[in-house]
Amino acid sequence: MFAVGRRISKHIRITSGPQILLTSSVPSGRKFNAMNSITSAFVPNAAGDAPKQLEYIPNLKLNDRNEIPLLGYGLGTANFKRKGGPAFDEKVVNNTITAIRTGFYHLDGAEAYGNEAELGAAIKRAGVPREKLFVVTKTSVLPGETIELAFSRSLEKLGVDYVDLYLIHHPFWASSPEDQSAKWAEMEALKESGRARSIGVSNYIEKNLAPILATAKYPPAINQIEFHPYLQHGDLLEYHRKNGIAVSAFGSLTAITKAAPGPVDLIYEKLAKKYGVGPGEIALRWVLDQGVVALTTSGSEERLHGYLTKLPAFKLTPREVEEISEAGKQKHFRGFWNHKIAANDHR
Ligand SMILES: NC(=O)c1ccc[n+]([C@@H]2O[C@H](COP(=O)([O-])OP(=O)(O)OC[C@H]3O[C@@H](n4cnc5c(N)ncnc54)[C@H](OP(=O)(O)O)[C@@H]3O)[C@@H](O)[C@H]2O)c1
Repeated sequence: MFAVGRRISKHIRITSGPQILLTSSVPSGRKFNAMNSITSAFVPNAAGDAPKQLEYIPNLKLNDRNEIPLLGYGLGTANFKRKGGPAFDEKVVNNTITAIRTGFYHLDGAEAYGNEAELGAAIKRAGVPREKLFVVTKTSVLPGETIELAFSRSLEKLGVDYVDLYLIHHPFWASSPEDQSAKWAEMEALKESGRARSIGVSNYIEKNLAPILATAKYPPAINQIEFHPYLQHGDLLEYHRKNGIAVSAFGSLTAITKAAPGPVDLIYEKLAKKYGVGPGEIALRWVLDQGVVALTTSGSEERLHGYLTKLPAFKLTPREVEEISEAGKQKHFRGFWNHKIAANDHR
């Protein structure tokens, strides 16, 4: 079984040649030897370095020195709790347990998904120690509520005493740049309390990030955005890299699931044939190979298992990443937040 970002730290002393002490990590259960010591030591970071091709999906180092698994399982979309559904949805619990047992240890939740209790139940029942999991949740910043209040409610529902990453879900609640800075200070207080190991934002663009960066004690570790060939956000990725903020992507499969037919179809098909995988793996690898965290979700164990076995087995060349990016720029498509963002806004 592969586990995304599941690693055991090792110190290796190379005995031939100069003595170098490498701090490295390998997935648990894997035999370790000096042959893989150099590649195992590689940890991509917020500067956008692509991961090396390894036998597993590595972690990415955040600007606060914490590490996030590069591939994550989402509790939104298919798992999102609809109005009129069951009060407690066992199906979501079972989907999430399957994802964890398949090897997805990065779990992306949100108060808005209405299923933090189900995520918490899955964490308890899956049989994987809490400290091996990377648990994320998000605040919707409801009117009149402090971040502390929203966060305490989420912790209680999740049944955990800390999260690995806490995000502000979107910037649309703020009426001024000062609002953004003030809320961010509340997020920083959580980080200092140790109950949110890393803090970040979601669906922010440069104009939302700038006021935070101007006043932050701790810059956001990550910004979670919709990211696929038909929504590349101009120079937003570059802005993150300059400021040491990592990016995580949702909607990475959009060209296949929502926006087909389109200009990347034939390229996905050609590359899928070349690497002996499906177009979904090509779409996710295009994200990973730009040093961006990829989130996906599925109710299908087979699909999840396929990602974990196929994604580490190949890597797109920089030219292939570029080919998809260039073709993708011929079309614009946004699958989320269309009620808040103008149709002609490509940022
Ligand atoms: N911060 C935000 O505002 C925000 C917004 C949206 C999402 N997210 C996060 O991102 C996570 C991932 O969401 P996503 O929308 O990006 O998921 P996605 O990976 O783009 O899509 C997953 C869905 O696509 C289906 N699918 C996968 N491959 C397919 C194929 N080849 N053909 C047809 N259908 C296919 C899956 O169906 P099966 O179940 O059949 O596999 C599943 O329902 C969410 O769960 C959430 O955690 C965050």
